[in-house]
Amino acid sequence: MEYLFGENFMWGGASSGPQSEGRYEGDGKMPSVWDYWYETEPGRFFGGVGPEPAADFCHNYKNIIAAMKEAGITSYRTSLQWSRLIKDREGTVNEEGVRFYQAVLDELEAQGIEPMFCLFHFDMPMYWMEKGGFENRETAEAFADYAEMCFGLFGDRVKYWMTFNEPIVVIEGGYLSGFHYPAICDAKRGALAAYHMQLASSMAIERFRRSEKEGKIGIILNLTPSYCREEAGTEDRKAAEITDLLFNRSFLDPSVKGEYPKALKELLRSEGILPKASEEDLRVIHSNTVDFLGVNYYHPRRVAARSTAWEGPLMPEKYYEEYTFEGMKMNTSRGWEIYEKALYDIAVNIRDQYGNIPWYVSENGMGVQEEERFLDKNGVVEDDYRIAFIRDHLKWLHKGITEGSNCFGYHLWCPFDCWSWINAYKNRYGLIRVDTEDGCSLQPKRSAAWFKQVSSSHKVSD
Ligand code: BG6
Repeated sequence: MEYLFGENFMWGGASSGPQSEGRYEGDGKMPSVWDYWYETEPGRFFGGVGPEPAADFCHNYKNIIAAMKEAGITSYRTSLQWSRLIKDREGTVNEEGVRFYQAVLDELEAQGIEPMFCLFHFDMPMYWMEKGGFENRETAEAFADYAEMCFGLFGDRVKYWMTFNEPIVVIEGGYLSGFHYPAICDAKRGALAAYHMQLASSMAIERFRRSEKEGKIGIILNLTPSYCREEAGTEDRKAAEITDLLFNRSFLDPSVKGEYPKALKELLRSEGILPKASEEDLRVIHSNTVDFLGVNYYHPRRVAARSTAWEGPLMPEKYYEEYTFEGMKMNTSRGWEIYEKALYDIAVNIRDQYGNIPWYVSENGMGVQEEERFLDKNGVVEDDYRIAFIRDHLKWLHKGITEGSNCFGYHLWCPFDCWSWINAYKNRYGLIRVDTEDGCSLQPKRSAAWFKQVSSSHKVSD
């Protein structure tokens, strides 16, 4: 069977500044939380590998962009690093950082690849972290200033902007589960930081609209549908509603509808962790909703009511437990379930519950450990598993689009292998292999030619 996508559908790739760029001599970059964390606790990072040189995009961006073009990538989302664009604590522009991103834009333009810029991908400058990160409202103001600076610097060339990537992961990782800095477990502080992140996003949108630049602005959220067992009872469904509130709707509703769900506010109030919001802040959130949504989707959440009472510190897990079942399809490298139909469910949910706002898949992909196992005699990774993964997700996405969901693109994470935070280079996601043992040299995998074929024909075939 054949699945046809529209002529204007965007076939893109997604990456981020911290995971691709690395550093170069005299780049004037300030430390972000990742630089600091690696310097102080390198043992937390898989294989002791830190954010240098990532995929060496700083030195090799021309070759990487050419290789992406060759793999059929027609739009590229990355993130600007706040810590690269300011050179001191007063927020003075780092001209070297500006030159770098302008050069990247020149190259994307030369190759006919549409740039899409996100303003923050987990990478708080250490200076602002020391001031409390997003627990401090001043950081939200500073973020809006930085956003405005970026619109001024690049707004004539970039037509797609996104405020944050996966803000809920910043909260989960940093304030609940310990996989991001500051790695504390304090739901009250997390709820405050989440509130200020939403405010920062809305303030940045307000600045964008004031700038009168052409183009659109959105936010990238990792939407993780919750599924109960077929025989689920009321308590299980309640647990699924709560996970949806906490993990999805906490940013989705204020970003798209300008309002927090009442049930979320009640839940946080009942736990004594509802942040105090001023009327003016709520007005900013209400009046500055997104033009479009980026949706990162990797895996679903299988949810049941807890069978035992929660005894630890306050965490979302107080309200649910996850279940597994026979025949669950897994990406064993990452420990994530593969469930392609969720992309259809997301498409329908956005259509029916969120005014059919324009959206795109801003990340989806498969990270695999020790891909060397699949190298053929010519040094090409035969990643048929990745081709199957992408194809099967696209089929379900196609069904959602056919049924009216307003999805305008699919971006693979990541077109080239990149550095994955504390997982470092454990799992490889690319269509293009980056040989970290050999000066980050590039080698297209089998999936690169396949992706090119899909992108040029706008068609997926069984
Ligand atoms: C998303 C992030 O959560 O998932 C990316 O936006 C990340 O930054 C990607 O790399 C894949 O997850 P991981 O942990 O395997 O790199």
